[in-house]
Amino acid sequence: MSMTITSLREALQSLPESASEPVINDLFASHLLRALGFQSEEIHPEYNTGDGAVDKAARKTIGDDVFLHTKSNPYLLLELKGRDINLSEDAAQYQKTVHQLKRYLLAPNCKTVQWGIITNSCHIQLFRKHGKVIHPATKCISMDADNIDSVIAAIRQKIENPSKALTIAVYNNKGGVGKTTTTVNLTAILTFLGKKVLAIDFDPNQQDLTSSLGLPLSKGSVFEALTERNVELQGTLHPYKFPLKKPSGELRFDVIPADQKLTDLPEHTLLSHLQTNSLYRKLEILRQEYDYILIDAPPNWRVFSQLAVYAADVVLIPTKHNNLFSLENAAMAIKKFIPEVQSKKADGSPIPLPIFFNGEKMTPPQLAVAQQEITNILKTAKKEGFNLLPYFYPKYTNAKKDLHIHEVPSYANIANSAFSRIPAVYRDRSAHEYYKDLAQEYFLQ
Ligand SMILES: Nc1ncnc2c1ncn2[C@@H]1O[C@H](COP(=O)(O)OP(=O)(O)O)[C@@H](O)[C@H]1O
Ligand SMILES: [Mg+2]
Repeated sequence: MSMTITSLREALQSLPESASEPVINDLFASHLLRALGFQSEEIHPEYNTGDGAVDKAARKTIGDDVFLHTKSNPYLLLELKGRDINLSEDAAQYQKTVHQLKRYLLAPNCKTVQWGIITNSCHIQLFRKHGKVIHPATKCISMDADNIDSVIAAIRQKIENPSKALTIAVYNNKGGVGKTTTTVNLTAILTFLGKKVLAIDFDPNQQDLTSSLGLPLSKGSVFEALTERNVELQGTLHPYKFPLKKPSGELRFDVIPADQKLTDLPEHTLLSHLQTNSLYRKLEILRQEYDYILIDAPPNWRVFSQLAVYAADVVLIPTKHNNLFSLENAAMAIKKFIPEVQSKKADGSPIPLPIFFNGEKMTPPQLAVAQQEITNILKTAKKEGFNLLPYFYPKYTNAKKDLHIHEVPSYANIANSAFSRIPAVYRDRSAHEYYKDLAQEYFLQ
């Protein structure tokens, strides 16, 4: 061995055609991590996640806390495969590898991890972790000597500039399923739990979120921010404050109220001024300020829903067990609308979160009916080439056929509280628990 390999590109070119995982580990992985900005003492091989060993974990040195020595607070995980494992997006081995990475990311010793990478040196994909949520941060990229430097530079750019917020669009093509109620109460409970949260009323025709909090409508400033290059959304923020018994002060979250102008203008005028990425781009600065940004979307697949879903990392889909349309619409969003948006975005987001049942009492026979409907939906989707199982029954495995779907119960005080202009979770202990459960089920680790 005479030649010393110095660049990542050379390392890639030095790999044999059918490089096995140990070969990629030896000849490629450390070059890759170096190109991502990590020194050798910042990289731990065979890191114990608490649920199996991941090939590499990495974290920059903080003061005299050197990751290789302290093994504490990993920042990024790298799961390597050999070239015999096909990591192109449609392959079964790809799904399996993503699943494996997710398991590591959620493992007990990885609470501080924010990024995960899978690669076999031919394909590479970056995933982001925010609380419990894992979503793609790049598409699954095909890599070669020509593009590897730019691909890795783009990944480095992302991991060195993480955005703080998880952006959640609350969407179902069906009205009355609890989108607005979910947005308000999830915002309020996350605030209560110490998170900094922004709620956006992006259903200007109904304006329900704004009115349920007793806030004034916006009179054109949201439209202006979305359409004028030099106007930012910051000027449209309105705080919602809930006083607590002394001396603990108050709870506070921010709201972008519904904009009257977005209702008044005819759709063709809106379409000529707004672009699919208008909201996404204008949230750029706000994504550094909040832990969560929740967007309440209207019940259709028109301009506002499309902008809301485009702006999101993940889509939360409320349904009703006894409303077939709400279940079919969820399937439609997952098969068609969300992939349409993914194809327009460079990072492969947003992804749908599993559906939940909102606000209807359910007897065992009713549950059986709902499950039959879901079985039909899953069968139809399968014929069309979609696997919707993870979005309806996220806990289902071959070993354990778990049909669990999360439920927010029907509860009169949730509906009533809109009249008091106070989120139900601030007025009522049961409502508080129901939405805390929702926050924990989906978001908090
Ligand atoms: N868990 C619940 N328990 C009782 N009522 C609810 C619940 N969730 C929603 N509602 C009520 O159902 C109606 C529709 O909810 P809403 O959030 O406005 O739906 P959407 O925004 O999808 O149209 C509202 O009157 C709301 O108060
Ligand atoms: Mg609504």
